[in-house]
Amino acid sequence: MFEDIPANREFDAYQSFLLDCKLAWTRQLFPVLRDRFDVAARDARPKTVRDVAALMEDDTTAQMFGWFERHLQRMKYSGLRGLTVHYDGYREEILRALDSAVPEHLLELHPDFQQPEYYTSVDIHQHPGGVWSDEIAGFVYERGAQSTAPMLKKSQSLFHRMTAEALTRTDREVKKVVDLGCGWGGSTQPYYEDHPEIDVTGVELSAPCLRVAALRAAELQAQNVRYKQADASDTGLDGGDTDIVTSTMMLHEMPPSHIKGVLREAHRLLAPGGLSIHLDFLMHNDPFKVWVHHGHSARNNEPFMVPLNGMDIVAAHKEAGFDDVEIVPFEEFDGSLSPDNTAWRFPWTMIIARKSG
Ligand SMILES: C[S@@+](CC[C@H](N)C(=O)[O-])C[C@H]1O[C@@H](n2cnc3c(N)ncnc32)[C@H](O)[C@@H]1O
Repeated sequence: MFEDIPANREFDAYQSFLLDCKLAWTRQLFPVLRDRFDVAARDARPKTVRDVAALMEDDTTAQMFGWFERHLQRMKYSGLRGLTVHYDGYREEILRALDSAVPEHLLELHPDFQQPEYYTSVDIHQHPGGVWSDEIAGFVYERGAQSTAPMLKKSQSLFHRMTAEALTRTDREVKKVVDLGCGWGGSTQPYYEDHPEIDVTGVELSAPCLRVAALRAAELQAQNVRYKQADASDTGLDGGDTDIVTSTMMLHEMPPSHIKGVLREAHRLLAPGGLSIHLDFLMHNDPFKVWVHHGHSARNNEPFMVPLNGMDIVAAHKEAGFDDVEIVPFEEFDGSLSPDNTAWRFPWTMIIARKSG
């Protein structure tokens, strides 16, 4: 449906160049940074993030690492041939595609929807205007996601892995799934595409993202999914009959008070025995990696990553009514958790809980 947007060699070359730079930053620069830290910390091992920050403050590799992280992402969206700049030139074509009719059961939007204040106050992950304010933001975000985690190559494999994890961990027949913060539908698609017996609902704040998600589902002629514009902490969906409530990379985009609301809502939605499973980023044990992770939060406009990392997420689940909570590392590609993997990676983590009964 977006076939009116012609291929553009300069744009593709520019984006590939940025992706290659990101890979070099991940695979080559990060191990150098780690070595520099190990040398600097030889005599007194820092115990806290603050200690690491003080030790590395004037280190040129650290500064360069941060510069690449900030500016490769900025260039991806806003540079000469950045995504928002490039696709702005094809606004009409994108809007024409988005305006094509999708079956009514696929999409529920609310034109007067009020976005939460935390959401509109920051251009999340340096996407100009966030992923919600521009009509074509969903399309741009879908394109941008192809290089969010450079070593994943195709983000799709991550979504399939996460879906498989959730389905394996449920000990019941799964008939109903709710995907909170579904974005442009990447995390929802493996459920509805590979499991026609499951009814799936994607919940999301951003109308432009939901329109892309619904269009993709229409292209696949999906009958078992619907997308709804709502806050994940107050979905307006029926409670008590969902087998899996899930989210992928959503919790770190909201403040702890909102996360607590989401956990209460997940508990309300689930049937007794149902599974709550969130994939997000947590890093606790290694002060060096916590420093890098917190730095990413600042450099990539992800202000709620640090508070999520500081939260007692197990206690928050218990407050929301869950008894049984597990925190489990997530292997986003084969070998990613191996000590042999010296590249930088997001600290992917699954937070898994069951509703008793
Ligand atoms: C990093 S994106 C991930 C999207 C999708 N799950 C994926 O993995 O591609 C996080 C999404 O959460 C959405 N979001 C943030 N706060 C939300 C809330 N309170 N309710 C619903 N969605 C929310 C954002 O609009 C964004 O699309």
